[in-house]
Amino acid sequence: MIARVTETMEFSNTELREWCRELPKVELHTHLNGSIRDSTLLELVKNHGDNGIIVSKDVEHMILEKGTSLRKCFDLFAVYHVLTTDHETVKRITKEVVEDFAADNCIYLELRTTPKNNEAKGMTKRSYMQAVIDGLKAVDIVDVDLWGCGLNNEESGDTRRKKIFVRLLLSINRSEATSSAIDTVNLAMEMKDVGVVGIDLSGDPTVGQWETVLPALKLARELGLSVTLHCGEVRNSKEIQAMLDFNPERLGHVCLLADEEWDRLKSLVIPVEICLTSNIMTQTIPSIELHHFADLYKSEHPMSLCTDDTGLFSTTLSNEYYKAALSFGLGKEEMFKLAQEAVNFVFADESVKQHLTQKFEEAKGQML
Ligand code: IMP
Ligand code: ZN
Repeated sequence: MIARVTETMEFSNTELREWCRELPKVELHTHLNGSIRDSTLLELVKNHGDNGIIVSKDVEHMILEKGTSLRKCFDLFAVYHVLTTDHETVKRITKEVVEDFAADNCIYLELRTTPKNNEAKGMTKRSYMQAVIDGLKAVDIVDVDLWGCGLNNEESGDTRRKKIFVRLLLSINRSEATSSAIDTVNLAMEMKDVGVVGIDLSGDPTVGQWETVLPALKLARELGLSVTLHCGEVRNSKEIQAMLDFNPERLGHVCLLADEEWDRLKSLVIPVEICLTSNIMTQTIPSIELHHFADLYKSEHPMSLCTDDTGLFSTTLSNEYYKAALSFGLGKEEMFKLAQEAVNFVFADESVKQHLTQKFEEAKGQML
């Protein structure tokens, strides 16, 4: 236990869950295709039918077992990507994911996705991203601010409607060639005025070479895009050190760092995106009690709770806060502070940060 347990104990578990849901929250690490609703996924499987690549029964079984090891996650992503290769589906899942986060009282969502080419469907990386933007425009339940103006509800001027700020990160998959990774960075640059704020490096951590993607990451930095890297999902000291040398704006996971890498991370003060459920379900970390959240929290290292893949890991951002409160004995004030401090690490500009800060100030009186 690292904080005041008593305060947490004042709540029943049901009250604590509800408090975590009401808490305004900032999500910095979630992947679009990993956050598809189960119901949508099953519908997509059904509509797709058996065609040699996808066998419905197998997929239904995979969905039941989803997220229970790193290997199973990447097997399932391969299936997701067969199911979501048309523009309408990309638009639909984007709309649903944003609505789900908004319903969970997330006030800022940095949504990341890997732009994909798919000649058979007439899809280019650019048209894929256009489908994502179309999905944001289609959001019904809240106003979406994408690049400093209302996106889906400009005419209504209804100030009572809830609002979510959405910014986009374009992901480079670790298995991509240098030229493809550079294409993604150039696309991000072109889309800078429509809400794209940075670049993520993700994908199966057992494949790909750091040297292959480094030119693209350097280009992103030269062009003024922020960078976040999936780091230390497997033990790979050479790569972890290279990532720390790169000194990105944020790092995701940082699960399997050796002592000296851990010290270096702390001395560089790189904010960390913590994904508790993901790390436990994939068995990257053996148990929540052993999670590095506790050590980072005790050292006051900058960090933010995130979901990684709400669909794959059957979680929500409020569930991640709930889990942290229960597992590490955080009280209301500590939880509120943790949520509020995430504002410091968003890749959006100062005006958005000010707006979010104001939202937290307004909520403080009601929540504490
Ligand atoms: P997409 O980028 O919208 O297609 O979201 C799914 C993709 O995100 C996967 O294919 C992976 O490349 C990446 N991803 C999701 N979760 C993880 C993770 O835990 N580690 C590394 N990459 C991940
Ligand atoms: Zn991730």
